[in-house]
Amino acid sequence: MKISLTLNGQPQEAEAPSATLLVELLRDHLSLTGTHIGCDTSQCGACNVLLDGAVVKACTVLAAQADGASVTTIEGLAEGETLHPMQAAFREHHGLQCGFCTPGMVIAGLGIVDRHGPEVSRETIVHELEGNLCRCTGYLNIVDAIEAGARAMGETAHA
Ligand code: FES
Ligand code: FES
Repeated sequence: MKISLTLNGQPQEAEAPSATLLVELLRDHLSLTGTHIGCDTSQCGACNVLLDGAVVKACTVLAAQADGASVTTIEGLAEGETLHPMQAAFREHHGLQCGFCTPGMVIAGLGIVDRHGPEVSRETIVHELEGNLCRCTGYLNIVDAIEAGARAMGETAHA
């Protein structure tokens, strides 16, 4: 089937079998491999993307569901050489080790700010990250990074 979507702000068309998952469309058909597959049980969150602004696990959504929608992946966050404030916070606070979970964590962070605002509490961040697994960091630096990224997004919004 033919799928038309807005992908990272640009119109995009793709042809894929009707059972194709959104994560497969992104990785295998559109070569956007920043969206990772870390499990086959919908538990890890490495495949998080924004679908019409809401965080979804792209392994749980059919590509067909993105037809006519807007999808943002990790590749769409930076503006040229300038990292998105949430990405910059992950770098500054060492919110990653191997980096496998990081795209999903950054997207999760955006969803947290969207739902709870830039002054979101650490407790809420920890609670909200239940759907994201990291095998490396012990999570502390990820929480630090999302907290800092949230505050930075608030400052950007008020600038
Ligand atoms: Fe989607 Fe793990 S690959 S939740
Ligand atoms: Fe390695 Fe999270 S940094 S899985």
